[in-house]
Amino acid sequence: MSTQLWLENITKEYGDGDTTVKVLKNVSLEVKAGEFVAVVGPSGAGKSTFLSIAGALLSPTRGKIVIGNQDISTLSDKELNAIRLQRIGFVFQSANLIPYLTVRDQLLLIAELAGNHNKEAEKRADELLLRLGLAHRADHYPESLSGGERQRVAIARAWMNNPEIILADEPTASLDSERGRDVVEMLADEVKLRQKAAVMVTHDKRMLDLVDRVVYIEDGMLSERPEQVPHPVH
Ligand SMILES: Nc1ncnc2c1ncn2[C@@H]1O[C@H](COP(=O)(O)OP(=O)(O)O)[C@@H](O)[C@H]1O
Ligand SMILES: [Mg+2]
Repeated sequence: MSTQLWLENITKEYGDGDTTVKVLKNVSLEVKAGEFVAVVGPSGAGKSTFLSIAGALLSPTRGKIVIGNQDISTLSDKELNAIRLQRIGFVFQSANLIPYLTVRDQLLLIAELAGNHNKEAEKRADELLLRLGLAHRADHYPESLSGGERQRVAIARAWMNNPEIILADEPTASLDSERGRDVVEMLADEVKLRQKAAVMVTHDKRMLDLVDRVVYIEDGMLSERPEQVPHPVH
Protein backbone atom coordinates (compact mmCIF):
# COMPACT_ATOMS: atom_id res chain seq x y z
CA MET A 1 0.00 0.00 0.00
CA SER A 2 1.18 3.49 -0.75
CA THR A 3 1.96 6.06 1.90
CA GLN A 4 -0.85 8.58 2.10
CA LEU A 5 0.34 10.78 4.93
CA TRP A 6 3.94 11.26 5.87
CA LEU A 7 5.21 13.49 8.64
CA GLU A 8 8.97 13.67 8.74
CA ASN A 9 11.02 15.03 11.64
CA ILE A 10 8.37 17.40 12.89
CA THR A 11 9.43 19.85 15.57
CA LYS A 12 7.03 22.37 17.04
CA GLU A 13 7.92 25.19 19.39
CA TYR A 14 5.34 27.50 20.88
CA GLY A 15 6.22 31.04 21.92
CA ASP A 16 9.31 32.99 20.97
CA GLY A 17 12.58 34.18 22.40
CA ASP A 18 13.11 33.27 26.06
CA THR A 19 9.74 31.64 26.48
CA THR A 20 9.93 29.00 23.76
CA VAL A 21 8.45 25.63 24.65
CA LYS A 22 9.32 22.65 22.49
CA VAL A 23 6.17 20.58 22.27
CA LEU A 24 7.16 18.14 19.50
CA LYS A 25 10.71 16.87 19.10
CA ASN A 26 11.60 15.31 15.77
CA VAL A 27 8.42 13.29 15.43
CA SER A 28 7.89 11.14 12.33
CA LEU A 29 4.90 9.06 11.24
CA GLU A 30 3.91 7.34 8.02
CA VAL A 31 0.32 6.29 7.42
CA LYS A 32 -0.61 4.13 4.45
CA ALA A 33 -3.83 4.10 2.48
CA GLY A 34 -6.23 1.78 4.30
CA GLU A 35 -4.45 2.17 7.63
CA PHE A 36 -6.02 3.36 10.88
CA VAL A 37 -3.50 4.61 13.47
CA ALA A 38 -4.32 5.56 17.05
CA VAL A 39 -2.27 8.11 18.97
CA VAL A 40 -2.30 7.78 22.75
CA GLY A 41 -0.39 9.44 25.54
CA PRO A 42 -0.79 11.65 28.58
CA SER A 43 -2.53 14.97 28.57
CA GLY A 44 -0.28 17.81 27.43
CA ALA A 45 2.04 15.41 25.56
CA GLY A 46 1.56 17.13 22.20
CA LYS A 47 -1.06 14.88 20.58
CA SER A 48 -3.42 17.64 19.45
CA THR A 49 -0.51 19.73 18.24
CA PHE A 50 0.68 16.76 16.19
CA LEU A 51 -2.75 16.15 14.67
CA SER A 52 -3.21 19.85 13.83
CA ILE A 53 0.11 19.82 11.99
CA ALA A 54 -0.87 16.61 10.16
CA GLY A 55 -4.04 18.36 9.03
CA ALA A 56 -2.36 21.60 7.94
CA LEU A 57 -4.19 23.58 10.63
CA LEU A 58 -0.89 24.50 12.22
CA SER A 59 2.57 24.78 10.68
CA PRO A 60 5.54 23.05 12.24
CA THR A 61 8.65 24.93 13.33
CA ARG A 62 10.66 22.38 11.35
CA GLY A 63 9.83 19.28 9.39
CA LYS A 64 8.02 18.06 6.33
CA ILE A 65 4.42 17.02 5.69
CA VAL A 66 3.62 15.01 2.60
CA ILE A 67 0.07 14.19 1.52
CA GLY A 68 -0.06 11.66 -1.29
CA ASN A 69 2.91 12.76 -3.38
CA GLN A 70 2.67 16.41 -2.47
CA ASP A 71 4.93 18.17 0.01
CA ILE A 72 2.59 20.67 1.65
CA SER A 73 5.20 22.25 3.95
CA THR A 74 5.90 25.05 1.48
CA LEU A 75 2.37 25.90 0.30
CA SER A 76 0.64 29.26 0.70
CA ASP A 77 -2.32 29.73 3.08
CA LYS A 78 -4.70 29.70 0.14
CA GLU A 79 -3.32 26.42 -1.16
CA LEU A 80 -3.46 24.93 2.34
CA ASN A 81 -7.08 25.98 2.64
CA ALA A 82 -7.94 24.02 -0.49
CA ILE A 83 -6.04 20.98 0.79
CA ARG A 84 -7.92 21.10 4.10
CA LEU A 85 -11.25 21.24 2.33
CA GLN A 86 -10.65 18.61 -0.31
CA ARG A 87 -8.13 16.17 1.02
CA ILE A 88 -8.53 16.14 4.81
CA GLY A 89 -11.56 15.32 6.96
CA PHE A 90 -11.42 16.43 10.59
CA VAL A 91 -13.50 15.18 13.49
CA PHE A 92 -13.08 16.96 16.82
CA GLN A 93 -14.14 16.19 20.37
CA SER A 94 -17.28 18.26 20.04
CA ALA A 95 -19.24 18.32 16.81
CA ASN A 96 -19.19 22.13 16.34
CA LEU A 97 -22.24 22.11 14.09
CA ILE A 98 -23.74 25.31 12.76
CA PRO A 99 -26.93 25.94 14.77
CA TYR A 100 -29.00 27.46 11.96
CA LEU A 101 -28.35 24.76 9.34
CA THR A 102 -30.20 21.47 9.04
CA VAL A 103 -28.22 18.27 9.17
CA ARG A 104 -28.31 17.91 5.38
CA ASP A 105 -27.25 21.52 4.86
CA GLN A 106 -24.26 21.10 7.19
CA LEU A 107 -22.98 18.56 4.66
CA LEU A 108 -23.90 20.55 1.57
CA LEU A 109 -22.12 23.61 2.92
CA ILE A 110 -18.87 21.65 2.83
CA ALA A 111 -19.44 20.77 -0.82
CA GLU A 112 -20.32 24.40 -1.48
CA LEU A 113 -17.11 25.66 0.13
CA ALA A 114 -15.10 23.27 -2.02
CA GLY A 115 -16.92 24.57 -5.09
CA ASN A 116 -18.79 21.38 -5.89
CA HIS A 117 -22.33 21.73 -4.67
CA ASN A 118 -24.08 19.76 -7.40
CA LYS A 119 -26.45 16.83 -7.84
CA GLU A 120 -23.60 14.45 -7.10
CA ALA A 121 -22.95 16.17 -3.76
CA GLU A 122 -26.63 15.97 -2.85
CA LYS A 123 -26.60 12.27 -3.59
CA ARG A 124 -23.47 11.78 -1.53
CA ALA A 125 -24.93 13.72 1.40
CA ASP A 126 -28.01 11.52 1.38
CA GLU A 127 -25.94 8.34 1.13
CA LEU A 128 -23.76 9.40 4.04
CA LEU A 129 -26.78 10.26 6.17
CA LEU A 130 -28.27 6.87 5.41
CA ARG A 131 -25.05 5.07 6.19
CA LEU A 132 -24.55 6.88 9.49
CA GLY A 133 -28.13 6.25 10.56
CA LEU A 134 -29.17 9.88 10.21
CA ALA A 135 -31.54 9.81 7.22
CA HIS A 136 -34.55 10.55 9.45
CA ARG A 137 -32.66 13.53 10.88
CA ALA A 138 -31.77 15.17 7.54
CA ASP A 139 -34.12 18.13 8.01
CA HIS A 140 -33.51 18.59 11.73
CA TYR A 141 -31.41 21.27 13.39
CA PRO A 142 -28.49 20.40 15.72
CA GLU A 143 -30.32 21.45 18.90
CA SER A 144 -32.81 18.60 18.49
CA LEU A 145 -30.13 15.91 18.11
CA SER A 146 -28.53 13.71 20.76
CA GLY A 147 -24.80 13.92 21.43
CA GLY A 148 -24.18 10.72 19.48
CA GLU A 149 -26.18 11.97 16.52
CA ARG A 150 -24.31 15.27 16.47
CA GLN A 151 -21.00 13.48 16.42
CA ARG A 152 -22.21 11.29 13.54
CA VAL A 153 -23.16 14.44 11.63
CA ALA A 154 -19.65 15.75 12.27
CA ILE A 155 -18.29 12.52 10.79
CA ALA A 156 -20.56 12.69 7.74
CA ARG A 157 -19.42 16.28 7.26
CA ALA A 158 -15.76 15.25 7.49
CA TRP A 159 -16.37 12.63 4.77
CA MET A 160 -18.45 14.82 2.53
CA ASN A 161 -15.67 15.77 0.12
CA ASN A 162 -14.31 12.22 0.17
CA PRO A 163 -10.94 13.22 1.66
CA GLU A 164 -8.08 10.76 1.47
CA ILE A 165 -7.04 11.52 5.04
CA ILE A 166 -9.22 11.36 8.16
CA LEU A 167 -8.03 12.95 11.39
CA ALA A 168 -9.96 12.64 14.63
CA ASP A 169 -9.01 14.27 17.94
CA GLU A 170 -10.70 12.42 20.80
CA PRO A 171 -13.89 11.94 18.77
CA THR A 172 -15.51 9.85 21.51
CA ALA A 173 -14.74 12.10 24.48
CA SER A 174 -18.26 13.52 24.69
CA LEU A 175 -20.00 10.16 24.22
CA ASP A 176 -20.84 7.18 26.43
CA SER A 177 -18.78 4.07 25.70
CA GLU A 178 -21.37 2.38 23.48
CA ARG A 179 -21.90 5.47 21.30
CA GLY A 180 -18.17 6.06 21.33
CA ARG A 181 -17.50 2.60 20.02
CA ASP A 182 -20.08 3.07 17.25
CA VAL A 183 -18.26 6.19 16.13
CA VAL A 184 -14.85 4.51 16.04
CA GLU A 185 -16.31 1.49 14.22
CA MET A 186 -17.66 3.86 11.57
CA LEU A 187 -14.24 5.44 11.18
CA ALA A 188 -12.62 1.99 10.90
CA ASP A 189 -15.16 0.89 8.27
CA GLU A 190 -14.55 3.97 6.15
CA VAL A 191 -10.78 3.46 6.31
CA LYS A 192 -11.13 -0.10 4.99
CA LEU A 193 -13.96 0.53 2.54
CA ARG A 194 -12.40 3.52 0.82
CA GLN A 195 -8.73 2.99 1.60
CA LYS A 196 -8.33 6.16 3.62
CA ALA A 197 -5.42 6.97 5.88
CA ALA A 198 -6.69 7.79 9.36
CA VAL A 199 -5.15 9.04 12.59
CA MET A 200 -7.18 9.22 15.79
CA VAL A 201 -6.09 10.62 19.13
CA THR A 202 -7.85 8.79 21.92
CA HIS A 203 -7.75 8.37 25.67
CA ASP A 204 -9.93 5.31 25.51
CA LYS A 205 -7.96 2.05 25.57
CA ARG A 206 -11.12 0.09 24.84
CA MET A 207 -11.09 1.45 21.26
CA LEU A 208 -7.60 0.22 20.46
CA ASP A 209 -8.74 -3.17 19.16
CA LEU A 210 -10.42 -1.31 16.28
CA VAL A 211 -7.22 0.23 14.89
CA ASP A 212 -4.30 -1.24 12.94
CA ARG A 213 -1.50 0.38 14.89
CA VAL A 214 -1.00 2.34 18.10
CA VAL A 215 1.67 5.00 18.58
CA TYR A 216 2.51 6.80 21.81
CA ILE A 217 3.35 10.43 22.20
CA GLU A 218 4.97 11.36 25.44
CA ASP A 219 6.93 14.47 26.26
CA GLY A 220 6.87 15.49 22.61
CA MET A 221 8.36 12.23 21.36
CA LEU A 222 6.64 9.51 19.39
CA SER A 223 7.25 5.83 19.86
CA GLU A 224 5.76 2.76 18.21
CA ARG A 225 6.56 0.47 21.11
CA PRO A 226 4.58 0.68 24.32
CA GLU A 227 7.40 -0.79 26.41
CA GLN A 228 9.47 2.32 25.72
CA VAL A 229 6.94 4.55 27.41
CA PRO A 230 7.95 4.99 31.04
CA HIS A 231 4.44 5.75 32.39
CA PRO A 232 1.16 3.96 31.84
CA VAL A 233 -1.03 5.40 29.11
CA HIS A 234 -4.30 6.90 30.23
N1 LIG B 1 -1.10 27.74 21.14
C1 LIG B 1 -0.30 27.30 22.13
N2 LIG B 1 0.61 28.14 22.69
C2 LIG B 1 1.44 27.70 23.66
N3 LIG B 1 1.43 26.45 24.17
C3 LIG B 1 0.54 25.59 23.67
C4 LIG B 1 -0.36 25.96 22.62
N4 LIG B 1 -1.12 24.88 22.31
C5 LIG B 1 -0.71 23.88 23.13
N5 LIG B 1 0.29 24.31 23.94
C6 LIG B 1 1.03 23.48 24.93
O1 LIG B 1 1.64 22.43 24.24
C7 LIG B 1 1.60 21.23 25.01
C8 LIG B 1 0.93 20.14 24.19
O2 LIG B 1 -0.43 20.46 24.00
P1 LIG B 1 -1.41 19.53 23.18
O3 LIG B 1 -0.83 19.28 21.84
O4 LIG B 1 -2.76 20.12 23.24
O5 LIG B 1 -1.34 18.18 24.04
P2 LIG B 1 -2.37 16.96 24.15
O6 LIG B 1 -3.33 17.04 23.02
O7 LIG B 1 -1.49 15.76 24.11
O8 LIG B 1 -3.04 17.09 25.48
C9 LIG B 1 0.87 21.59 26.29
O9 LIG B 1 1.83 21.85 27.27
C10 LIG B 1 0.11 22.83 25.94
O10 LIG B 1 -0.08 23.64 27.06
MG1 LIG C 1 -5.43 17.13 22.98
